[in-house]
Amino acid sequence: MSKLALFGGPKAIGDGQQLKSSWNQKSMEEGLCEYTGAKYAKCVSSGTAALASGLFAAGVGPGDEVLTVAYTWVATSGAILRNNAVPIFADIDPQTFTMDVEDARRKITPQTKAILPVDFYGHPAPIPELMALAEEHGIVVIEDACQAATAEINGVKLGSIAHLTAFSWSGKPIYAPEGGGAYLTNDRELFERGLLAGQHPTVIQGLATDPEVVKHASMGGTGDRMSPVGATAAIQQLLDADARTNARIRNCEYLTEKLADIPGITPPYVRSGYKHAYHYYTCLWAPDEYGVSRDRFCQALNAEGVYAIAYVMDANYRFAPESEPIQAGGPLHLRTMFQERNLYGKGCPFLCPHVKNPPVYREGDLPVSEEMARREFCLSQPDLSPPCDENDMQLVVDAIAKIIDNIDELKE
Ligand SMILES: Cc1ncc(COP(=O)(O)O)c(C=O)c1O
Repeated sequence: MSKLALFGGPKAIGDGQQLKSSWNQKSMEEGLCEYTGAKYAKCVSSGTAALASGLFAAGVGPGDEVLTVAYTWVATSGAILRNNAVPIFADIDPQTFTMDVEDARRKITPQTKAILPVDFYGHPAPIPELMALAEEHGIVVIEDACQAATAEINGVKLGSIAHLTAFSWSGKPIYAPEGGGAYLTNDRELFERGLLAGQHPTVIQGLATDPEVVKHASMGGTGDRMSPVGATAAIQQLLDADARTNARIRNCEYLTEKLADIPGITPPYVRSGYKHAYHYYTCLWAPDEYGVSRDRFCQALNAEGVYAIAYVMDANYRFAPESEPIQAGGPLHLRTMFQERNLYGKGCPFLCPHVKNPPVYREGDLPVSEEMARREFCLSQPDLSPPCDENDMQLVVDAIAKIIDNIDELKE
């Protein structure tokens, strides 16, 4: 009889063997590492959980500032608040809808613990420049790539460029029917510390080597596991993710070519060397060109059968025919929660005693974000992806042309 593994003997389930129960999750994580070039990946229950894990891994906590954007989905700042830290908002670049590096530089303080840029609509944020900025200040970049799996910068897939990258699988370029997400990193310490935020102690003990992390496994995580069924479906998506994104890019390029000469509409811009995942195809509307508001134009477009939304202003809902907006939208700094600054009922985390300079969120603080929110309109991933092809894109172009031909009827 061989010696017990507990006392240094060979393991009964040895190297290269595993119970099949662990296969699905493992293969998605291994697949992600292979696909992106990242060293470590952890599948979790959502993109939000991936962001919260990343921020926890970076040691973000009470009194810390995290530099991010207000031009995003609520989960970005939600993950910061869940770690009891305060979001400080940098403005965006009007062409890519992603963090303006110079504004970020102006807003860094000794309290800034991390930079959290968003690859909004699928266009990567300027991660190399932000990594350089973070390095100057000895802080980390946690990238919200929830809308941008499959995107690239200079031929490198997102997932291994920032210190840690968060993905979401809920209706995104890589899709899992039950949602889910993952965080990816090349940094073993971040990988292990991230487990503490969401993972069950047994998962942590199975993966972590750092005694400090193992010791804190008793914290108990929040059970942010990705379902094995979802992981099985997601691995299938991963296999042809590039083919679907590339087909979507071709459709979007067709749209851009056809829309480029229509006065009042600015199609999306793609920065040189950047690969856009086109989770959304976002144009700018110029209300003054025809004296017609963006909302009126979107109403007309929806009536023609083209699903178009003002994502940031309407939290994704106003123009969906069957539902109402969940709240007055717009860039996050203008929303009620940031105006009131009283999330936990005692002013925390915004006004808690650990916060050196409590942030004030005012209209006019982020002029580009505020203007873009008034002008943007977006077509969404399902309508841009296979099986939709050039013929479908032409239907969209025809619908827009029809509205422009009849634009005088829309004047209010
Ligand atoms: C920019 C951004 N960040 C984070 C998330 C959160 O992802 P999940 O819905 O999987 O929690 C989303 C989801 O839509 C998102 O769009």
